[in-house]
Amino acid sequence: MSEVEETVIEAVGLSKVFKDFWGRPKAKAVNGIDFKVKKGEVFGLLGPNGSGKSTTIKMLLGLLYPTRGALQIFNKSPRDVKTKQRIGYLPEETYLYKYLSAGETIDFFGSLFQLSGLEKKKRTEQLLDMVGLKNVGKRSVGEFSKGMARRVGLAQALVNDPDLIILDEPTSGLAPVACKEVKNLIKTLAERGKTVILSSHLLADVEDVVDRVVVLYGGQIRAEGTTDELLLVEDKTTITTPKMSKDVLEKVLKILHEEYSSEDMEITHPRLDLESFFLDVVNRARSESIHTAGAETGQVAEYLRSSSDSAVKEMAAQINVTDSEEEKARLQEKLEEKEASAKLAAIVQESEEKPQMESVDEKEALSEEAVAENSEKLEALVDQIKEPVKQAEPEVEKKSEEDLSKANDKLKQLLGGDD
Ligand SMILES: Nc1ncnc2c1ncn2[C@@H]1O[C@H](COP(=O)(O)OP(=O)(O)OP(=O)(O)O)[C@@H](O)[C@H]1O
Ligand SMILES: [Mg+2]
Repeated sequence: MSEVEETVIEAVGLSKVFKDFWGRPKAKAVNGIDFKVKKGEVFGLLGPNGSGKSTTIKMLLGLLYPTRGALQIFNKSPRDVKTKQRIGYLPEETYLYKYLSAGETIDFFGSLFQLSGLEKKKRTEQLLDMVGLKNVGKRSVGEFSKGMARRVGLAQALVNDPDLIILDEPTSGLAPVACKEVKNLIKTLAERGKTVILSSHLLADVEDVVDRVVVLYGGQIRAEGTTDELLLVEDKTTITTPKMSKDVLEKVLKILHEEYSSEDMEITHPRLDLESFFLDVVNRARSESIHTAGAETGQVAEYLRSSSDSAVKEMAAQINVTDSEEEKARLQEKLEEKEASAKLAAIVQESEEKPQMESVDEKEALSEEAVAENSEKLEALVDQIKEPVKQAEPEVEKKSEEDLSKANDKLKQLLGGDD
């Protein structure tokens, strides 16, 4: 693959000035930023509130025109229709049609990408499972907690199996367990060659997932680099050992004191961070198989994982057509590495598939959900579809029964009922 193809995003001098009604500059949201993102990279746009993260993302999506500068996505304009089809987007706020169920919502977005009925069904099932909403997939998203709605948003962002995934504050509203799952998902997607851009002001949420970050402040890049480049304190050393006995500690200190003064040294016990502690508590609850009506732990959708299978197949085919023995050996080695890591990932995933503890209050709702009859759901869906029509145009109520049923049929079609 050439150097040019590998660059997924290139921004040069990118700027956005919001103007007021009279065309006077109101806010310099983004002020001359340059950055490049390569294929397979997880790139973090960090910065405090109002630093220009969402504005940059909207320009990447072609939703806002830059005031100045150049921007290319897959070597094309962000407004190129084919480019848009290769992008998945999770907006800052999850906007969902509250009367649709989670499954219907994903199915609807699948229709926008003109997926076949069979493909939509397959992807919807896999995505619901992946975001841990399989058991509540038939409930209206209007009833969902903020974190559950966020998970639906994440699923819809992936329904088109995008090459570039743009996530604006993906962990907002998610409990630590879900944050960890989102981070694992992002890592898996990147391993499959997808490029991920994510924004956040919660640095701990993204620290262990991003390869490279830019830190924005006032619309300008204040720092840029890999997390190691930015966070490693190179002029200090940490040594971790089993708990030292008094004797050993005295010996070690004697040697250290020959080199350093007491003020330069610090002796402490390592401390778990609150996130690790929390995850440990939840994992123990899961191992007791405590039931939940909320979101559960899912596994990465098979169709999103399959790119790795195709990469393996591609590599195997390459080996067959390569003449050079040296090249054959190199490819064979890589192939074995890939197969081994896929096996490992499968084992890890299997061991992680345990129910998660959530609010006890929702248990009842789940059991009701499980016994609900199909006919009731159909009726409920028709009622739900009627409702927004009433809200949008109150005079519809006065129209004849016939008109109303025609309108509902149309709406049902639009909302992705049948192909
Ligand atoms: N449509 C708009 N009209 C006018 N000003 C805007 C508009 N959108 C954003 N801004 C301004 O641009 C600046 C950057 O906003 P932006 O939403 O990009 O910040 P952000 O980094 O995403 O912040 P947050 O972390 O709060 O989401 C802010 O000063 C904001 O008020
Ligand atoms: Mg924002």
